[in-house]
Amino acid sequence: MDDDRDCIAFFDSGIGGLTLLRECAANLPDEKFVYLGDNARAPYGNKSAEEIKTLTAQAFAYLARFPLKAAVVACNTVTADCIGFLRERFSFPILGVEPAVKPAAKRGGTVLVLSTAATASSARFQALLDRWSGAARLIPYSPTSLAGEIEKNISDLSRLDLSVLLPKVQCDAVVLGCTHYIFVKKRIEDFYGCRAYDGNAGTAARLAATVGAASAGRAKNFARKEKISKGNFAGKSADLISKNTNKCSILRKNGKKTVVLFVGESAEKNKSVFESLF
Ligand code: DGL
Repeated sequence: MDDDRDCIAFFDSGIGGLTLLRECAANLPDEKFVYLGDNARAPYGNKSAEEIKTLTAQAFAYLARFPLKAAVVACNTVTADCIGFLRERFSFPILGVEPAVKPAAKRGGTVLVLSTAATASSARFQALLDRWSGAARLIPYSPTSLAGEIEKNISDLSRLDLSVLLPKVQCDAVVLGCTHYIFVKKRIEDFYGCRAYDGNAGTAARLAATVGAASAGRAKNFARKEKISKGNFAGKSADLISKNTNKCSILRKNGKKTVVLFVGESAEKNKSVFESLF
């Protein structure tokens, strides 16, 4: 793993976080990245909070084998349910993504907030809506199968029929509160005839600031070791992922390496998606 030293980890239930990785890689061209997508068990958004925590613990047990200097939870669902316990357990900085309600609500009017069911039922999401409900009329909605359909059809998204996957409402802005939805951002904008907001740019800027601060020796928790003895994060759960994980290395245009790990048999299909993004 020598070549992967000091890398920044990304985690999503599947391919959803790849557009965020692309944006972060553009901001931080000299960094090495490792991306883990749990395709085999995606989508996460219709699972219980407990199950999402278990799967995320397994994923991070595996990722912690890499000498990480930071991690990005490139998934609103996992952020909503797990960011707290991940930060308790690891001492490197861990960033999450949250639905971009703020910039959309600031415009006023009616804002459709799309997210998975798991995100929508989280306390973090409720707090976010409460904070911005005075600025705009917020309509939260969880399309039951949108993320799963995007995951399944990533090699040909024209197959998706958005008119059956999305709610029919009039709105002035749409929030894409799930990283999978970003793959069909333009089509969602056309469908509703208004702008769609996602959190990619904000998270990429935060990551650049975090990594910059750490390099300058200003970030406190920038150690590579886990804070506690590994407990749930060790052993079997990590092996479970490693047995089923396919690894490929992508050289970005500037020659820097990104390691992509996909759990399950869809790895090859997703490798080509990844290559097309970079
Ligand atoms: N991409 C994820 C999110 O941002 C989760 C999608 C899913 O697995 O349901 O919420």
